[in-house]
Amino acid sequence: MSDADIKQQVQDFYDRVGWQQVSAGTYQNATYEDLRPVAREYVHRCHLRVARHLAPAGEMLLDAGSGPIQYPEYVEYSRGYQHRVCLDISSVALQEARQRIGEHGLFVVGDIANLPFKADAFDGLVSLHTIHHLPAAEHARAYLELQRVLAHGKSGVVVNGWDLPPLTMLQNFLIRMAETLHRKPTVPLPTGQNAGAEPSPLPCRGGAGGEVRGTFVRKHTPTWLKKEVGTHLPVEIWCWRSLSVRFMRTFIHQRLGGKFLLRLLFWLEERFPHFFGRNGQYPLIVLRKRFT
Ligand SMILES: C[S@@+](CC[C@H](N)C(=O)[O-])C[C@H]1O[C@@H](n2cnc3c(N)ncnc32)[C@H](O)[C@@H]1O
Repeated sequence: MSDADIKQQVQDFYDRVGWQQVSAGTYQNATYEDLRPVAREYVHRCHLRVARHLAPAGEMLLDAGSGPIQYPEYVEYSRGYQHRVCLDISSVALQEARQRIGEHGLFVVGDIANLPFKADAFDGLVSLHTIHHLPAAEHARAYLELQRVLAHGKSGVVVNGWDLPPLTMLQNFLIRMAETLHRKPTVPLPTGQNAGAEPSPLPCRGGAGGEVRGTFVRKHTPTWLKKEVGTHLPVEIWCWRSLSVRFMRTFIHQRLGGKFLLRLLFWLEERFPHFFGRNGQYPLIVLRKRFT
């Protein structure tokens, strides 16, 4: 499949499936998240980690691959800014985002690997779970584009999953053990490029109606990031969230002290953010543009 075909397929997926509401205010895309009450506090606190690395106020915040700004915590990132510029290849995403933030937003259909903005335009930026939808050859360019449009002295945050990091391999091993013990039919776990909670790397058909449930995803390792991006611009790796959704759904339950376990894990992630950032499922990557 050509790079243009991949982008077209991703756009079609989000227009037709990912940003369709499956219940009031909940999109199909949220089926890749753990929305159970037992996980709520942990997931909420992880979302708020993003804001720590952004200037609290400014003129424009870019949200590259904004989707519909689907979680309430996301709104907080631009609360102190005059405008949030939402960029997405999916026009459905932007129509939904407009419903949520109205006049505070400016909405641009565009490609994160070719940003239609001048250099130094933004006082802050976020790009959450988006770069992994690009063809592999364009990932580094997307990071460089984000850095280009960031103003000097400002910072931005990128969140994506790693390709099978060590702690996810451990989590997958434990899931397989649990499934064997419970004699559950084993659903094959990802062996690469698809670890985590997002759509699968190729469109997969499931359900009685044969509906499409996933789209193209390509993930990388910290070594790739350091080599392909870190040699051009400073990148810091922090922890966004170290657990995969699949692990949480398997092992984190109210009756098994799930909330307490997640509090303990959150505390550990706070103490060792770089370790959990490099080795856990989801890093929080901070970009900074220094004054030259
Ligand atoms: C997994 S969703 C994440 C949305 C939002 N950031 C969030 O965390 O809920 C990925 C989003 O990236 C958008 N996207 C995918 N490829 C893109 C590209 N090349 N340029 C801009 N947006 C893109 C999709 O349309 C979709 O809205």
